[in-house]
Parts: sequence; C-alpha cells; structure tokens
Amino acid sequence: MTDPAPARLVVLVSGSGSNLQALLDASADPAYGAQVVAVGADRDGIAGLDRAAAAGVPTFVDSVKAYETRDDWDAALAAHVAEFKPDLIVSAGFLKLVGPHFLAAFGDRYINTHNALLPSFPGIHGPRDALAYGVKLAGATLFFVDAGVDTGPIIAQVAVPVLDDDTEDTLTERIKVAERAQLVDFVGRLVREGWTIENRKVRIP
Ligand code: GRF
Repeated sequence: MTDPAPARLVVLVSGSGSNLQALLDASADPAYGAQVVAVGADRDGIAGLDRAAAAGVPTFVDSVKAYETRDDWDAALAAHVAEFKPDLIVSAGFLKLVGPHFLAAFGDRYINTHNALLPSFPGIHGPRDALAYGVKLAGATLFFVDAGVDTGPIIAQVAVPVLDDDTEDTLTERIKVAERAQLVDFVGRLVREGWTIENRKVRIP
C-alpha cells in the first residue's frame, strides 16, 4: 500500500519563525505525515519568511495596512491561505487576530501556539505577565482558534518551571524550547490521527 499524501500545512508567522523551523525540520521525514506548503506573514522583513524561502516553501505577505479595512484584510488572508488547500493552518507567532472570513473558511482547522498556560496570561506578553504575577510554573498552550483572544479549545499544554532569577528573556526561551517540541508532536498527531472536539474537549483518537 502506498503512504497517503502528507497533510498540507500553511504556517502564519510575524517574527523569528523558530516554531516554523521546527515544523519544517520535522516534515523532512516522510513518516511525519505533514508538509509545509506555504508560509504567510503580516509583515515583510522577518526571519520567518527567510526560513521559508531557505526551505523552498512559497510565501505570501498580507499586511493589514495594505487593505482599506480590517475586514478586507481578513478576506484577502483567507483567500491566500485557501489557494494552498491546507488541511491545517498553524499560527506560529502570528501577531494578528483573524476575523469572520478566515474563521468561516478555516475555523475547524486553525490552531495557535501561545506561550502561557491558558486561560492564564492571554495576549502578547504571556511570559512577562506570568513573571510579574509570580507563578512558579509557566508554559505553552496549543489550541484551536475561535473568535476570542486565546480562548479556543485546548489541544495540549506543557509546563516549565519559573526560576528565581528568571528574566523575561530567560523564561521566554525556556518556554519556547518546550513549546516547539509540543507543536511538532501534536501537529503530527493531529494530521496522522485526526481529532474530535466536543464541549471544548479535544480528543486525538
Ligand atoms: C512563540 O513563543 C509564540 O507562543 C509567541 O511568539 C513566539 C513565536 O516565536 N506568540 P517564533 O516566531 O516561532 O520564533
């Protein structure tokens, strides 16, 4: 029997793209079951786009300010992503909230990785907020995106310790190491095994 075609991933980035790189590296192994078919960004000049180019993966940029309204941007982003016929879309450090067009098209298969243990510390300063609060465990959450901010059904979480002498940078870096491993592991499991969501509970058979 021939292996099924790898699942098609579109990855959205806004920055350094280390999570993207982890997915690119994992997908070099055919047994992983997924392939990054495109990388989208909301800005030019970021390392994430260079990483995609270096891997020979097509890229596109949809910046919000290139469109008259946020709604137009949302529709354009959804259309660009649709061109690549994705099975799963991964927001990996993508700093924009998508809107109703995108969610109507892909709300059943759009996932995000966040660098905090949700529902604590949503938003863009997860590690900073965790440190300021004084928690002893921080971590990362992988979840299906819904219309809220970091509120969707949780796929997986990983915890790391917060150390007494941590700075925002050292904690962020410790989280990122665990976050990347979790992302690679669970994207692979989702595409290979499928999933169900019932009453917010995500199950991978
Ligand atoms: C990740 O830690 C993600 O949780 C946060 O931004 C970081 C992106 O890092 N929102 P990278 O661009 O994948 O290196």
